Amino acid sequence: MKGVVLAGGLGTRLLPLTKVTNKHLLPIYNKPMIYYPIGTLVTAGIREILIVTGGNNAGEFLRLLGNGRDFGLKDLHYTYQEGEGGIAEALNLAEAFSDGEPIAVILGDNIIEADISGAVRRFAEQKTGARILLKEVEDPERFGVAEIRGDLIAGIEEKPKSPKSRFAVTGIYMYDETVFDVIKTLQPSNRGELEITDVNNHYIRKGRMTFEILDGWWTDAGTFESLFRANCLIAEKENGKRTEVR
Ligand code: DAU
Repeated sequence: MKGVVLAGGLGTRLLPLTKVTNKHLLPIYNKPMIYYPIGTLVTAGIREILIVTGGNNAGEFLRLLGNGRDFGLKDLHYTYQEGEGGIAEALNLAEAFSDGEPIAVILGDNIIEADISGAVRRFAEQKTGARILLKEVEDPERFGVAEIRGDLIAGIEEKPKSPKSRFAVTGIYMYDETVFDVIKTLQPSNRGELEITDVNNHYIRKGRMTFEILDGWWTDAGTFESLFRANCLIAEKENGKRTEVR
């Protein structure tokens, strides 16, 4: 399976931190943010990875990551998103790279504790359709939220005011090669973006979506609070204990 890290967008919720750099280059404890989603894919056994980036600092990704040697990779692929037309628009840029193979996609600001090898293997066995990872959270209204009925997801609402569950859709998605046909049917949402939630709802309506619950902690890092939380969680993981400030 091939892997795609989506690191476009302008990170406006983190201004002024993102005025002169890209959100995904900001530090999370001892590494730049983008190291974590790349590491998640590599740990899951994925060796062919595309980074989709954008904005004014795209060249810095090449300087930082080069051919991916820090991750034990032979090479890395890059592409550029003009503007910030949404997660699904960024993913559409991976069509040539994926070349008909299934893909595991991770948002560049999603940081997790666990290893997703099992989920990637189960999607490879599933062969077609899509698979997403959910996580129970305290603040579901910040995310895409899944309505679960038994073994199935009935639908996903993007940032609902009255969430139908506490299960957030994490930024880890696996798709078959038809995802690019789905993206081409999308219309921009009220916030002017091609929404990944619309892609996922398409697979749900067709009965081709599976899901599992992600082990361990999960956080995004796109707001001041979640960026701070991500730093604390990684510090704790690295040091095996809560970091004390003296
Ligand atoms: O973190 C999980 C959540 O991510 C999901 O629960 C939501 O359903 C999903 O829409 C997304 O919500 P956010 O509002 O947090 O997404 P955000 O705009 O912060 O973008 C997340 C990442 O996606 C960002 O770090 C880089 C990538 N991205 C985003 C946009 C808008 C792009 O590559 N290009 C883009 O145009």
